[in-house]
Amino acid sequence: MAEIRLEGVGHSYDGGRTWALRPMTWTWRSGRAYALLGPSGCGKTTLLNIVSGLLTPTVGRIWFDDREVTGVPTAGRDIAQVFQFPVLYEEMTVYDNLAFPLRNRKVPAPEIRRRVLRVSAMLGLDDVLRRRSRRLDPGRKQIVSLGRGLVRAQVAAVLLDEPLTVVDPALKWTLRSKLKEIHRDTGHTLVYVTHDQTEALTFADEVVVLNDGRIVQAGRPAELFLSPEHEFVGHFIGSPGMNVLPAEIDGGVVRIGRSEVGAVAGELPPGPVRIGVRPEFVQVGGLPGGPGVAARVTGVDRMGSHDLVRAEVGGHPVIARTEAGSSWTPGAVEFLGFPADRTFLFRDEVRCGSLAPLDGRGPA
Ligand SMILES: Nc1ncnc2c1ncn2[C@@H]1O[C@H](COP(=O)(O)OP(=O)(O)OP(=O)(O)O)[C@@H](O)[C@H]1O
Ligand SMILES: [Mg+2]
Repeated sequence: MAEIRLEGVGHSYDGGRTWALRPMTWTWRSGRAYALLGPSGCGKTTLLNIVSGLLTPTVGRIWFDDREVTGVPTAGRDIAQVFQFPVLYEEMTVYDNLAFPLRNRKVPAPEIRRRVLRVSAMLGLDDVLRRRSRRLDPGRKQIVSLGRGLVRAQVAAVLLDEPLTVVDPALKWTLRSKLKEIHRDTGHTLVYVTHDQTEALTFADEVVVLNDGRIVQAGRPAELFLSPEHEFVGHFIGSPGMNVLPAEIDGGVVRIGRSEVGAVAGELPPGPVRIGVRPEFVQVGGLPGGPGVAARVTGVDRMGSHDLVRAEVGGHPVIARTEAGSSWTPGAVEFLGFPADRTFLFRDEVRCGSLAPLDGRGPA
């Protein structure tokens, strides 16, 4: 396993007109399990292929520990990569497919057998080991592909590009926890690409959120949820995503229309700003002792475990998550409270500050 460092790495497929991956500096730390999360087309596969050497970046340099690998082809990088769809030798048995990456590297036979059987047991392949791969269903084939990626002990990193897409949803959960187990066991540097937030959050030590060719935030799942640094992270993670409302900073106070929402924590220039607060933290009925912002309730979705109260503030939708069986009714005017420690301020989509309670404000 290795630490993988990207220095100013970027990629353009059209000679520099547009960037599929904007030049970035980023380190994948040795032995960690990462999820690379982002919507379709944001550059996940491009980034992965640059690490594995399938793609040479337009700009920048790549280091595996102290060794520069920018010009080194895939074979010289010791990367195990698993793709979205099975890549197998159809006429070989499952056992031989799993053994292939080891035989290829002249691993001694007893060691091959030990490693193949271990991976097979973990992935539930024992009963098909002697079967030809072409006789397996697509889901099983993909699990064998996954096994091929995990069978080697000596790899700089394991890269998984949406590896469970063709696998049955019920099996996905099991396989993900197996993967975690295998990761704990081997300590590989592991990058798991997905566009599914649940998959990313349940799997990784650290989630790297990619949007439009750039890393907008990286952190533990709870950090991304509680402390989004970018509006995109607020929207993309959470269900429903973070509420965003246009507001104004004036004299150190944040206002929506004429309602005061809170004070600005620290110094920020006056002018337009956007307020971001997750539905989980919006207080219908206002904050204890706080003013709150007048909102008209437009609907209530009863989700069983909780309610989602839909409201409108100055023409902008806001959702609040409340306990199930709440008494809010459409048409009512209620006050919404935005807790200072869970409400953030954004400019140009990037977090620029936070709120402070109004009564904590010093003399104007
Ligand atoms: N070979 C290529 N030639 C030209 N453009 C490409 C090529 N591969 C990808 N792109 C473009 O680069 C951008 C990033 O693509 P990439 O495949 O890295 O995204 P992704 O995040 O993996 O998407 P998905 O979730 O759909 O797999 C997209 O705009 C895509 O259209
Ligand atoms: Mg992709």
